[in-house]
Amino acid sequence: MDSNYHVPVLFKPAIDGLKLKDDSIVLDMTLGRAGHSSIMLSHIRKGHLYAIDKDETALNYSRERLAKIGSNFTLFQGNYSEFTDILRKEGINEADAILLDIGVSSPQFDNPDRGFSYRFDSRLDMRMNCHQELDAYYVVNNYTEDHLRKIIYEYGEDKSAAKIARAIVKSRSIRPIETTFELVDVIKSCLPYFVLNKPGHPAKQTFQAIRYEVNQEIEELKTGLTKAINFLSLHGRLAIITFNSLEDKIAKNIIKDFTQLPSTNRHMPPNLNVESIKFTRVTKKPIIPTDEEILNNPRSKSAKLRIIERTGK
Ligand SMILES: C[S@@+](CC[C@H](N)C(=O)[O-])C[C@H]1O[C@@H](n2cnc3c(N)ncnc32)[C@H](O)[C@@H]1O
Repeated sequence: MDSNYHVPVLFKPAIDGLKLKDDSIVLDMTLGRAGHSSIMLSHIRKGHLYAIDKDETALNYSRERLAKIGSNFTLFQGNYSEFTDILRKEGINEADAILLDIGVSSPQFDNPDRGFSYRFDSRLDMRMNCHQELDAYYVVNNYTEDHLRKIIYEYGEDKSAAKIARAIVKSRSIRPIETTFELVDVIKSCLPYFVLNKPGHPAKQTFQAIRYEVNQEIEELKTGLTKAINFLSLHGRLAIITFNSLEDKIAKNIIKDFTQLPSTNRHMPPNLNVESIKFTRVTKKPIIPTDEEILNNPRSKSAKLRIIERTGK
């Protein structure tokens, strides 16, 4: 399979939901292999696409892919939480459509050298940006037991976090944990039979937690999504695709904060200042993939799409 193969998730509902016009200014905060961006670019002949990714390989591939469609695009390397600040410095102060399709792409996950997956034996890495210093090896071999427990519990939502953190610290006191398979063995060694026999890989949650820590994914999501919503033009729309309950909970709550009045104390008069609400939820409930999409692309299984629109300035 092509090493750049990535099937864009919830492709049609995301693109349709953004209501692109010929002259739209569009931001793709998570360019990847330009699956979504290439179709967005083909919809905006008189507009402009600005896109960012941390990953140099994603940018190099996408630059060539997009150039076959048009020249009205500009790509940046960096963290999406900084994207709107970068654009403001370039004199771009708002966008008509913004897409966030968060997480890792298939080419990152399926390349054994990137050290993201427990399916391949490779050095612990998990960096989206290969020039960044912090990697999974450092987290696993240097973080304190308490810090490891915290991230495995909070980012991995794993009830066995304390056991796993203790096992990691014990194992690395003998010799460093170098590879993904060594980490899988350490995790398996401390889990009881009934946990090991639950559906799903026993290391999945810990790997997710370490990946989030290495790439600061939760902080990026909170800051990046908030800044992006504020960057929308009047009637501009933002679509966000998440891949698990933790990510979706954060997206849902941030969208709620923008679209609802803050609830008041029940002993106080209700807050009726509806004019202060400048945004509306386009999707009351998240859009999920059809059975057909899941069949064709099992990775889409847990995806959820939420869309928000600016209705006031
Ligand atoms: C799920 S993929 C996007 C796939 C893309 N929509 C497509 O169809 O090809 C997510 C991409 O976002 C990038 N990414 C994730 N978090 C990022 C961040 N905080 N800043 C910049 N890029 C990020 C990853 O490197 C990855 O390439």
